[in-house]
Amino acid sequence: MQKSILILGACGQIGTELTMALRKKYNAEMVVASDIREGSQELTQSGPFEILDATNYEAIEDVVMHYEIEEVYLMAAMLSATAEKFPNRAWNLNMTSLLNVLDLGKEKKIDKIFWPSSIAVFGPNTPKDNTPQSTLMEPSTVYGISKQAGERWCEYYFNKYGVDVRSVRYPGLISWKTLPGGGTTDYAVEIYHEALKKGNYTCFLNQDTYLPMMYMDDAIRATMTLMEAPSKSISIRSSYNLAAMSFSPKEMATSIQRHKPDFTIDYSPDFRQQIADSWPSSIDDTMAREDWGWQPQFDLEKTTKVMFEKL
Ligand code: SER
Repeated sequence: MQKSILILGACGQIGTELTMALRKKYNAEMVVASDIREGSQELTQSGPFEILDATNYEAIEDVVMHYEIEEVYLMAAMLSATAEKFPNRAWNLNMTSLLNVLDLGKEKKIDKIFWPSSIAVFGPNTPKDNTPQSTLMEPSTVYGISKQAGERWCEYYFNKYGVDVRSVRYPGLISWKTLPGGGTTDYAVEIYHEALKKGNYTCFLNQDTYLPMMYMDDAIRATMTLMEAPSKSISIRSSYNLAAMSFSPKEMATSIQRHKPDFTIDYSPDFRQQIADSWPSSIDDTMAREDWGWQPQFDLEKTTKVMFEKL
């Protein structure tokens, strides 16, 4: 199928794998990767690559016009832990980039948009277990506030201007190709690297912190399935709850010890503990299952097995 696609923030944890998956599925020459920094060889040699600042409307518009882009995936963002250190920069990047892309949709310069929300959209007063799609949301982090505002904007642009924007609330994502940067769920990736390198990991969250998580292949499949779903089956234009597994650092350590019996873990919670404590432990994703047939394929055991195979 011919489809011209632009990925903003293609060098990040999700962007890298999403770009490669889209290039595999569609005509790679029509899948344009872009980021504010130079891409890896893999990204620059498998299809077009552009240096692009997602906060610059004109620059995005130029690339959209040049490649006759139909679909945009906006993966550029500042994650939760870094955003607490640079609140203004985080707000500017996360909101300006989204409004830029939504405006391109409003101007009919692009047909379809994917924008990621997050479990961070929920807050300390949200029901923690099996968090429903629609519930009390009072995010207490800058990142979470930007996700909540973003969800409202997406729904608004759909209702008011008919912009075809689609979104999921990603849980913490586990992958081997690209490291996450500046998130609260990053421990679940770092732990595998340190287990292989040192046989020990000092975790910045305490042992019983349950968080919703997902293996990257599931996240990419969810994203592509949602984007391919017929418009009429999408009943939620803010963002869909999405789930695969929930576990604590202690459970993750046990899963690693099944492969590396000598692995040890210590706990030294820092400021990220408070962020994690404000997020749900598990998510009810019934709507994603009903509307577009979502089904996760990776649990913790399968994730650990693949991570050690790949790393
Ligand atoms: N994984 C992200 C973070 O920790 C949440 O969306 O910031």
